[in-house]
Amino acid sequence: MLGGVTTSLPSPSSSARRITLATLAAAFAYAVVRYVVVGTVPPAQLPVFVLNKAIAVAALALVAMALAIGPLLRLGIGDRRWLARRKSLGVHGFVLGAVHSVLTIAVLSPRTYAKLHDAAGALTFEGGLALLAGVAAFAALVGPAMTSATVVRRTMAADAWRRTQRTAVIALGVGLAHVVVLGWRTWLTPERWPGHLPPLTAISVAVATLSLAVRAAAPCSRPPGRT
Ligand code: HEM
Repeated sequence: MLGGVTTSLPSPSSSARRITLATLAAAFAYAVVRYVVVGTVPPAQLPVFVLNKAIAVAALALVAMALAIGPLLRLGIGDRRWLARRKSLGVHGFVLGAVHSVLTIAVLSPRTYAKLHDAAGALTFEGGLALLAGVAAFAALVGPAMTSATVVRRTMAADAWRRTQRTAVIALGVGLAHVVVLGWRTWLTPERWPGHLPPLTAISVAVATLSLAVRAAAPCSRPPGRT
């Protein structure tokens, strides 16, 4: 209470929800402009193909954010209240990663994803590698997401819990590899980018790399179970 007026700050989970929605909205707006407005993707592809791109980017960005919060605080950057949002951001990243995986598998075909297939419609080596990395990134997120529930955490030894949570770093690294394999060819031809706008793969890789760089700059030296 301040002078009889109740001040109510948003709860950590509602502010994490806002960050997630803002990230998804920004990624979707960018995808619409780059791929539909100035690109060649028909508007009919908005509900799955284009939205799926935004969901994928938001998934990776949220996992990257969740993993960067602890190291940023160790570097003296940010606000300790961010810690309370970390769990929700990571779980939202996992959920969006799951939605992206399901949507991609639902529409996976040589027609939709020509760049993953050869002329005969078979997966190329690179296409197979990209899909494998996507599945591996998703699998590596399952443990950290499941053990982030307080009720599960209470049943685990601190060391085992921390080891499981750290699998999210592997997920981010493998997710980054997933996107590099998907995008590197496009990065080499900036003259063909619609509206000179970089592809979402490049933006995702930049965000994930930044998060891993922050983690490398401020490795955790705390006892088990801490940030
Ligand atoms: C079963 C698991 C997965 C499969 C089969 C899969 C497949 C794909 C495919 C085919 C694309 C290309 C989309 C396009 O060009 O429009 C893609 C893009 C992408 N994926 Fe995944 N993925 C999986 C899991 C994940 C996970 C778990 C993450 C993040 C945590 C992720 C992040 C991304 C990102 C950031 C992109 C780039 C978005 C774009 O430019 O299209 N993927 N994925």
